[in-house]
Amino acid sequence: MPPRVAPIAATLGAVVTDLELARMDAPTWKTVERAFHEHAVLVFPGQNLTEEEQVAFAKRFGDLELLAPDPDQKAVAISNQKPDGSILGADEHRFKSLRGNEGWHTDSSYMPLAAKASVLSAQVVPAAGGETEWADMRAAYDALDADTRQRIAALSAHHSLYHSQAQIGHVVQPGAGYGFHTKGAPLRPLVKIHPVTGRPALFIGRHAHAIPGLDEVESEQLLSNLVDFACRPPRTYAHGWQPGDVVIWDNRCVLHRARPYDYRVARVMRHTRVAGDPATELASTRRDERAGAYEPSTSNR
Ligand SMILES: [Fe+2]
Repeated sequence: MPPRVAPIAATLGAVVTDLELARMDAPTWKTVERAFHEHAVLVFPGQNLTEEEQVAFAKRFGDLELLAPDPDQKAVAISNQKPDGSILGADEHRFKSLRGNEGWHTDSSYMPLAAKASVLSAQVVPAAGGETEWADMRAAYDALDADTRQRIAALSAHHSLYHSQAQIGHVVQPGAGYGFHTKGAPLRPLVKIHPVTGRPALFIGRHAHAIPGLDEVESEQLLSNLVDFACRPPRTYAHGWQPGDVVIWDNRCVLHRARPYDYRVARVMRHTRVAGDPATELASTRRDERAGAYEPSTSNR
């Protein structure tokens, strides 16, 4: 029996059932891959994947981006709970990174090689809040007026995790964690053509700043206006997690953000990130003043 792909009542997203992600035959995988390209966000309720199964599922989409210093660690916890069971305090670096995730963004746009896709699975969820929300940048581009489309056609923005964290008062030193590097800030066009579907999409979010050719105020205004316009219904979907749910999304054409919850209770997610294709997701970098040093590189490692 083929899996059931039920589109969500938004311009993106589908809920996929009647399959086991850990045991897909070739036709089932083809259905999933086709649905991924069409809907950009796929929700798989109740899969309860082991870490190995999640890694294997993510690898079907491509090479994994390694987010931890240990190259054998393919999945990472996105969690406000420490290994000893205690909860992160509001002044801790990792807590501030989690709060940063509550701003609309796309994963690894601040790395030389931006991400293709991200997989998230729910392990421990709070009773309320803590949803993940996605916004469709293909539909947002389609909905732009002709003047705006023309204005942004030749514009690019720098992407930096130092920048986006500084916006929420989190000033970080190089080496403090993944993304805080000295490879420079990638310069990425505001309009990205999807390498598979050919659809144009806005490529923006909280890491984007400093559009060459515009002054700081104009740049900031344009980018925040675009996000405000783009990230609203019918282009958004927020998923309220149940433990065992798995979601994959296409970072090349959607933005996402975490929603707030009671930070005194645990929220534990498992994350695997699929690397972009260097042919379409690699960008050259410029010096990032906030990083201090500048050592250009085409590698995320
Ligand atoms: Fe993210």
